[in-house]
Amino acid sequence: MNRAVARFTKVAVYVTNPAQGLFARDTLTKPKILSTRPLFPAARTVLDQHFEVDYWAPAERISRDELLKRVADKDGLVCLLTEKVDEELLAAAPKLRIAATVSVGYDNIDVAACTRHKVAATHTPGVLDDTTADFAWTLLMAIGRRLLEGDAWMRTGTWPGWDLDQLVGGDVWGKTLGVLGFGRIGRGVARRALGFNMRVIYSDAVRAHEGMERELKAEFVDRDTLFRESDFISLHVPLLPDTRHLISRENLGKMKRTAYLVNTSRGPVVDEEALAEALENKIIAGAALDVYEHEPLVHPALLPRRDVILAPHIASASLDTRTKMAVMAAENVVALFAGRRPPNALNADALGLK
Ligand SMILES: NC(=O)c1ccc[n+]([C@@H]2O[C@H](COP(=O)([O-])OP(=O)(O)OC[C@H]3O[C@@H](n4cnc5c(N)ncnc54)[C@H](O)[C@@H]3O)[C@@H](O)[C@H]2O)c1
Repeated sequence: MNRAVARFTKVAVYVTNPAQGLFARDTLTKPKILSTRPLFPAARTVLDQHFEVDYWAPAERISRDELLKRVADKDGLVCLLTEKVDEELLAAAPKLRIAATVSVGYDNIDVAACTRHKVAATHTPGVLDDTTADFAWTLLMAIGRRLLEGDAWMRTGTWPGWDLDQLVGGDVWGKTLGVLGFGRIGRGVARRALGFNMRVIYSDAVRAHEGMERELKAEFVDRDTLFRESDFISLHVPLLPDTRHLISRENLGKMKRTAYLVNTSRGPVVDEEALAEALENKIIAGAALDVYEHEPLVHPALLPRRDVILAPHIASASLDTRTKMAVMAAENVVALFAGRRPPNALNADALGLK
């Protein structure tokens, strides 16, 4: 038996009679889990049945030192995208068997290092697609139609009354939407464009199958064509070495001067310095961002700009969806300690999990 399997089989001794529930034989042997947030009640219910859980509850985020200290004696970790699971953390947690991030993006987790340490890494795909696609559209409409500029006028009492050329923005209906990253969320964004009679073009490392293209009336194009022809570009690629600064000075220069950029993927996909420069030089018309290169900071040159909308990384933030994400993370942890393959494991095959 290889080491990974042996390590995971060891925990299966906790599961005796399924009728008694998990870990019923000896409550003293309940695995210890660290959760870096109190999570939502539905997720706590899942975890509390099976584990001894240390929830980090203070309002301020857990510090790196505290995280390393608390995870040292834990068997499992439920974390957020703000916590890095890297070589240092894994070395500090010799008993750790699973790191479950409450996010679909897993650029906070060094999956290869997890595999080396025989730690299962899991994420939360699928449950946030529509909520995130809705929000990409919220940003797209708001930047195109200058909603926040108008809102600011109303709040400051500076609206001079109706006029013909006031806050004239870009149309959405009938325009060309470029989806960069045509995965679960990108497709959701494309699907919504059908209702606006838009032309949808997409670029992805992998071409979608014909049926999907037909259903969404989406046309596969190379990246340069997408930059050149889109009126709105919506980003949905994961953060990877080859997507970091994908929105570079050079690529911004290929966009239409009337085009808008929407980013609900990950901040470092956009070179914020280059974006600020492109806006200043009117290379593009505007940008709406949910994510940032150095969260929670925003590039200072973007802050005073009226042609930018800045949202605080809330694209998946509906109560239902965030609850589903937390429950999904909890269920992955339960599955592993029950001797099952966690449904959303990123390295199940590498670890030989069945
Ligand atoms: N702002 C938020 O709150 C929020 C919420 C959910 C997801 N996200 C981000 O959105 C990303 C996408 O999520 P998803 O569930 O749609 O993922 P997904 O894996 O279903 O889709 C990603 C797509 O990007 C493509 N891709 C990968 N590398 C590429 C490259 N170099 N060039 C072109 N295409 C490439 C993949 O082939 C895939 O089709 C996540 O990784 C996450 O970072 C952010």
